[in-house]
Order: sequence, then structure tokens, then C-alpha cells
Amino acid sequence: MEQRRQRKEYELMESRARELQRAPMGAAILCLLLAGCLFEQVRGDPSFTIDYARDCFLKDGACFRYISGSFHYFRVPSVYWKDRLLKMYMTGLDAIQVYVPWNFHEPQPRMFNFDGDRDLERFLNLTVELGLLVILRPGPYICAEWDMGGLPAWLLNKKAIALRTSDPHYLNAVDSWLSVLLPKIKPRLYCNGGNIISVQVENEYGSFHACDYSYMRHLLNIFRIYLGDDVVLFTTDGNTNVELKCGTLQGLFATVDFGPVDNATKAFELLRRVQPRGPLVNSEYYTGWLDYWGEKHASSPAEQVSRGLQDILNTGASVNMYMFEGGTNFGYWNGADFKNIYKPITTSYDYDAPLTEAGDPTDKLLAIRSVISKFKSVPEGPFPPPTPKYYYGLVSLNKVGALVDLLDIFSEGDPYGTQYPITFEDLKQAFGFVLYRTRLPSDIPFPTPLSSQVSGVHDRAYISVGGRFYGVLERDRISNVNVTGSAGEWLDVLVENMGRINFGADITDFKGLLGNLTLGEDILRDWVVYSLDIDGPIAAGWPYVPDNHIWMNPQLQNRTGPTFYSGTFQIGAVGDTFLKLPKWTKGQVWINGFNIGRYWPARGPQITLYVPSNILSSSQLNRITILELEHAPDWSTVIFLDRPILNGTLSGR
Ligand SMILES: *[C@@H]1O[C@H](CO)[C@@H](O)[C@H](O)[C@H]1NC(C)=O
Ligand SMILES: *[C@@H]1O[C@H](CO)[C@@H](O)[C@H](O)[C@H]1NC(C)=O
Ligand SMILES: *[C@@H]1O[C@H](CO)[C@@H](O)[C@H](O)[C@H]1NC(C)=O
Ligand SMILES: *[C@@H]1O[C@H](CO)[C@@H](O)[C@H](O)[C@H]1NC(C)=O
Ligand SMILES: *[C@@H]1O[C@H](CO)[C@@H](O)[C@H](O)[C@H]1NC(C)=O
Ligand SMILES: *[C@@H]1O[C@H](CO)[C@@H](O)[C@H](O)[C@H]1NC(C)=O
Repeated sequence: MEQRRQRKEYELMESRARELQRAPMGAAILCLLLAGCLFEQVRGDPSFTIDYARDCFLKDGACFRYISGSFHYFRVPSVYWKDRLLKMYMTGLDAIQVYVPWNFHEPQPRMFNFDGDRDLERFLNLTVELGLLVILRPGPYICAEWDMGGLPAWLLNKKAIALRTSDPHYLNAVDSWLSVLLPKIKPRLYCNGGNIISVQVENEYGSFHACDYSYMRHLLNIFRIYLGDDVVLFTTDGNTNVELKCGTLQGLFATVDFGPVDNATKAFELLRRVQPRGPLVNSEYYTGWLDYWGEKHASSPAEQVSRGLQDILNTGASVNMYMFEGGTNFGYWNGADFKNIYKPITTSYDYDAPLTEAGDPTDKLLAIRSVISKFKSVPEGPFPPPTPKYYYGLVSLNKVGALVDLLDIFSEGDPYGTQYPITFEDLKQAFGFVLYRTRLPSDIPFPTPLSSQVSGVHDRAYISVGGRFYGVLERDRISNVNVTGSAGEWLDVLVENMGRINFGADITDFKGLLGNLTLGEDILRDWVVYSLDIDGPIAAGWPYVPDNHIWMNPQLQNRTGPTFYSGTFQIGAVGDTFLKLPKWTKGQVWINGFNIGRYWPARGPQITLYVPSNILSSSQLNRITILELEHAPDWSTVIFLDRPILNGTLSGR
């Protein structure tokens, strides 16, 4: 009830703010409030430039510094964009900083997608509506802990491509993409009457080994051609000499990134060495950090983050908080890092940010807001309350069948016959799973190791013989598993792409079996390879049957290994919820056809998956479908909770 009242009040206030914005007089007041245009009112043509003499940005002729927060529209369902932006506005932010992931918008060469949750223009319209400025980061490489740092996997169709360099194969694809994206941006630039004040070129290029200045010069040129000479173009790099050396370029304004544990004075001194004058900017002030499967949940104290923010603001610098809301790696979109071993990032991108994964304000947000209020006026009125979260309780699932028995559903056309394994890229499959099968060449009566070459499996392979599950091979971790079987039985190797590396020298990250598999001493040959589209049929409603009518061939009931389960549930009211899978091992979950991501409670630290309300229905049965890759619990039951668990204990597996 209290929540509802607050929400009402707050909606009223919101509509008042919008009216203000429309009125010319109001515009000046709002500008005063929002952007700190303390010296001049908006007059003449809008402009956003750099004053190198006074070391500040000039917004419509007056010195201006921004306080901004990062938000990734591609990690939050579009129905929630406005809610999150409003909360950022209410915190007192002048601006949001946002990446554009190329692979999200060009999934196949020259096939563009700007619909629904990918409607960039609708998102940018909302930022205008809410009176926020925008700092745009269109890449083409973005890192972002996003698959391949935002580069489309199809770039790897050309095996020898040199990503993020002036390799013509790469540049042609980049130019083609930017010729679609940048014209959408041009009318939205501040100098053209829009709200985009600056545009970043590439991202942390100084951290990339190639250090190819002609690539950066090429990008600068392309950005200028499409966006004109009046927009501030900038770079962002880590705060070390070497990063600033390769990341910065004449003609691009340089900024740095660092977190609360770093020394701000020192970081800005380094920036001053490459750029003696101009405003100081931290483009990524870290409010938290990402999580890897199998590692401790990252968190940073609110007090530390807000104190560091205050230090930065005291220097007069502009700052963007990365992240303000992290969101979720739905589907297969998570990236991975490579630090000695391959380290995939969790489904949740909560980031311990000021707004949670589900968009709710935290103590960290309140601490940040109170620091901001020492430097500028923050919007008054009640802060938007958290959205309702629901406990829906237990849902039982039925076993639908083993993946290998459902190939006619998930694989179109004939499988690919090959003597030695081929990759996902050879099959032109970007994400998900590929099945490799071969018949055992001889009887294997005693446990015999099936082994992969070093780093030969990208990234996890689930091994069965004759429908009996034997275990997994895992990139950089597990290179053999013992099997037994009879000559002629199928050896099934289901390979999961766990997300492409998004940072560093290893972003050319092919998927699948990259080398031969050996059984005992013998290299296995004569593979049948199935490219799998699991999401298509599930999005179309598979398995269509009602719960109690799931049919299984009794002969196949004892099969283990990658297996589908499905169940339905009814709810009275629709709200956000969190899915817990007690005693399940690892897999992928779809609700009403929407892929909510990977689960892996056996490894942690993420225990629950965020289920946004917009994919649920209160008028129809909701269907949940799970692909469990290893072992489901006997009771095959899941539970919907009203709060997330992201810091679960690890089994150490
Ligand atoms: C964005 O706003 C403009 C101006 O109001 C409008 O013409 C356009 O249709 C909007 N685009 C989307 C995708 O909402
Ligand atoms: C931060 O760096 C500055 C300049 O390098 C130095 O003078 C100062 O002592 C440092 N502060 C801390 C707390 O290390
Ligand atoms: C595989 O089997 C061999 C015996 O054939 C045994 O020595 C070895 O420990 C087994 N390896 C695993 C990982 O179980
Ligand atoms: C697989 O084994 C065959 C036969 O030894 C060899 O010609 C081929 O190069 C191997 N493939 C890889 C990727 O190592
Ligand atoms: C399945 O397993 C059960 C118990 O282990 C066994 O009794 C039954 O014969 C098996 N069925 C088939 C078809 O293999
Ligand atoms: C996880 O976080 C919750 C909420 O902050 C806390 O109560 C709990 O003790 C934490 N659990 C672990 C294992 O750290």
C-alpha cells in the first residue's frame, strides 16, 4: 500500500517534470536543475565542445561537468528501460553512458535487427524524454563482458582475420556496420539539437596488443565522415602509461578509467601527461565488479564507492559510474575473460551496482545520491520504490527426453559428415550447442580415457556413449574422461559455447572441437556433426504437449546426459521473480520461450536466475523448459523466490 502511494506520487512528479521540460521557461529551470548550466541559458545553436584553456567542457558556451552512469539497454527488457532511466535521473545524474553492441544488431552479415529489446532509437528517445544527456559508445569493439566484446562471431568466418586492426576484412565489416549505425546517431547529437554530447571511438584500445594507429585513424575518419566535425569524439583507457600510449590518438579527446581503490590523483596525473589540458574524465568509475562462474561473488562497500566518487568530484572532473545498473546476460550473451585459464562470466551482471540486476535502489545508490547532492541539486520527491517481487513457489517438471533423441526437432537438414571435427564457425553457428557423434570403432570393455588436446574443447563437452553419460571435458580444466562401450555404439559429444572472450589478445575465440579427440591411443574419425537450433523450436512453443502427456519411449527412459525437462505453472499476479534450481547441475532455461540464461548452481556463485515480469502471464499457463546438461535431481523441481541469491557457496568442482 505504502509502495503504491509512493509510486503514485512519483508518477505525478514525473509528469510534472515532463511538462516543465515542454515549457520554454521550464526548460531553463530544468536545465539549471539538470545540467548545471549556471552561467548561461540556452541561447542560439546548442553546442558541446571542449575548452582547453579553462580545462572544462563547454555546454552552450558555459563550463560544464557531467555526472553519468552506465546502463546497457541490451541487458534489460525494453519494458523496464524507462523505469531504470527515471531512477538514474532521480539520483541526480546528468547523463547516461551506453554501449551499442554490434553483434546484437547485426546477427548475420547485412541482416540488421533494431526491433523490440534491440530498438536503440526507442531507447535513445526515452533518454530525451527523461531529460538525460547521452555519452554514446558505439565501439565497434566494446568489451562490456559481452560475447566477443560486441564483435559479431561471423567475423571469424574468415579464419585468419586480425580483429581490431586495419586488416581489410575486418575494416570492411566495420565500415558497413558504421554506415548503418552512425547515420541514426547524427541527428541526435547535441550540436544537432539532440542529447548525445560525446561519442567514444573503440574501447580501451591501449589494452590491446596490436597498437595499430592506422586502425584508430581509420575509425576517427569514419566517425568524422558520418557525425561531422562538431561532436566531441573521445577514447577511454586504463590508467597506465602503456595503455594511454596505444589507446590515444591525435584528434581524439582522451579519458581514463579507474575504480574506488585506485589513486584518482595519480590516474589523472598520468592522463595529463598525454593530454596536458582539457577537462579530466573518468569514463568508468567502478561501482562494483563482474562475477565469474566458480569464483567468489564480487562486491564493494557503498561507503568506499561513494567516498571515491566524492574525491573525483572534488577534483572538478567529470565521471561516469560503471555500472549504474548492470542487468542480465540473457540467452548466450555473456562474455569471458582469459587469465591463465578461460573464465566465463555469469548470467547475472548485477555488478553490485547502485541499481540491482532487477532495477531496485540499494544503499549504495542512496550514498551516491547524497554525495552528488553536495555538488548539485538532485531532483526532489520520493525515490521510485522497488518493483514488486514474487514468490511463486515450487514447480515440478517432467522429463521430455534426451537431446540426442530429439535431433529431428533441433537440427534442420542433414548433419555434416567429416573425418575430423569442425568448428561452430565452419557450421556458421554463432551460439549455443553443437553435437558431434561418431560410432565406437571397437569394443571398449575397460574404462578408457577419451581425451582432448590442450584447450581443444571450446568450451565444455558433455560425453555419452550409447546414451550413458560419462562426464565432461572442459577447456583448460578437464582434458579426459573415461568411457566404456561396444563397437558401433554412438559416442555423443555435445559441445557448449560458454561465451566468447571479450578482452585481451584472445578475442579470436573459435568454438566447438578445435582439435581431435583421442580414445585410448586412437584418434577418432568419421564424425557426424549437428548444428543445433534449440531456441527456435522452444520459442515456437515446443514441447507443445500438456504436462501430464509428455510421451517418452520406455526404451529410452534410462538415458542420461543432456536432457530436456518441461513443466507449467499458473500465477495470479505478474511480477519479477528469481528462479532457483536446487540440486540441478548446469544448463539453460527458457520461460515461455524466452531464454533467461545459463544456470550452474553446482559451481556458483550465482544460484538464482532473474525472471523479468514481462515474460510471465497471469491469464495463461506459463511454461518452463530446461536443458540440463549433466544431472537433474530425481524430483526435478524448481522454485521461484522473491529475492536473488548471487553469492552462493561454491562446491569447488
Ligand atoms: C523517436 O522519437 C521521434 C521524435 O519524437 C519519433 O519521430 C520516432 O518515431 C521515435 N522513434 C521510436 C523508435 O520510438
Ligand atoms: C596518490 O597519488 C599522489 C600523486 O602520485 C600521491 O602524492 C599521493 O600520496 C597518493 N595517495 C595515496 C593515498 O597513495
Ligand atoms: C581412467 O581409468 C584408468 C584405468 O583405465 C584409471 O587409472 C584412471 O584413474 C581413470 N581416470 C579417471 C579420470 O577416472
Ligand atoms: C587430426 O588428426 C589428423 C590425423 O592425424 C591430422 O591430420 C589432423 O591435423 C588433426 N587435426 C588437428 C586439428 O590437429
Ligand atoms: C532402466 O533402469 C531400471 C533401473 O535401473 C531398470 O530396471 C530397467 O530395466 C531399465 N530400462 C531399460 C529400458 O533399460
Ligand atoms: C549472501 O548475501 C546475503 C545477503 O547479503 C547474506 O545474508 C549471506 O550471508 C551471504 N552468503 C554468503 C555465503 O556469503
